[in-house]
Amino acid sequence: MHRSKPKQASLTNISQALSVALGVRDSHTLGHCERVVTLCRELAIHLDFSERELGILAVAAQFHDIGKIGIPDNVLHKPSRFEPAEWECMKQHSVIGERIIRALACDHADEIALSVRHHHEHFDGSGYPDALSGTQIPIYSRMISLTDSYDAIAETRSYHKARKHNEIMDLLHSENGIKHDPDLLHAFNAVIEKSAMRTPDIG
Ligand SMILES: [Fe+2]
Repeated sequence: MHRSKPKQASLTNISQALSVALGVRDSHTLGHCERVVTLCRELAIHLDFSERELGILAVAAQFHDIGKIGIPDNVLHKPSRFEPAEWECMKQHSVIGERIIRALACDHADEIALSVRHHHEHFDGSGYPDALSGTQIPIYSRMISLTDSYDAIAETRSYHKARKHNEIMDLLHSENGIKHDPDLLHAFNAVIEKSAMRTPDIG
C-alpha cells in the first residue's frame, strides 16, 4: 500500500505557527510586532537596503519579541512596574528569542538570531544583554529598537497613557546617542512624516 511522505513544514508555515503561538501568549505583542515590521521596512527602503537585507530585517522585526513565549505569565502580564527580579526575568526574552530563531535553522538564521538578541542594546552601551555600543550593535537591532520605541510610546500601556506624535519624537530625541543611533533617528524623522504609522499631533 502506497503511503505519501509527510509534508515538510516550510519556513513560512513555521513562522505563521510562531506568530500564532506568540499571539496566544500575548495578543498585544503580536499587533506591536506587525507595526514594527512596517516601520522597519519603511526606514530600510529610505536607506536603500537590498532585497536580501529587507528580508532579514522583516523576519527579525516580526520575531524580535518571540522570546516572550518563555516569560512566565506573572511577569509578562504584570499590570504595574516590575520589581528588580521581574525585570531581570523579562530581559531574558531577547536571549530566548535568539535560541528560538537559531532552532529554525532558516536562511540567514545567524544574522536574524543576533538581531533579535541585541534589540535592547543601547547606542551608548547601557543596554542588554551584552552592553554593546554604537556600530557593534547589528544595524537591524538598532532599527528595531528605534521603531519599537516609537510604537511602544505611541500606544496606551498599563503603565503609561498613549502619547501624541510630537511628544514621542521629543522623547526619542532626548535619547539621541544614548539609546538611539543618531543617523538612524535622523532618517526616521523623514520616514515617519510620510508613514501611515505616524500618530496624530497634540492639539
Ligand atoms: Fe523586546
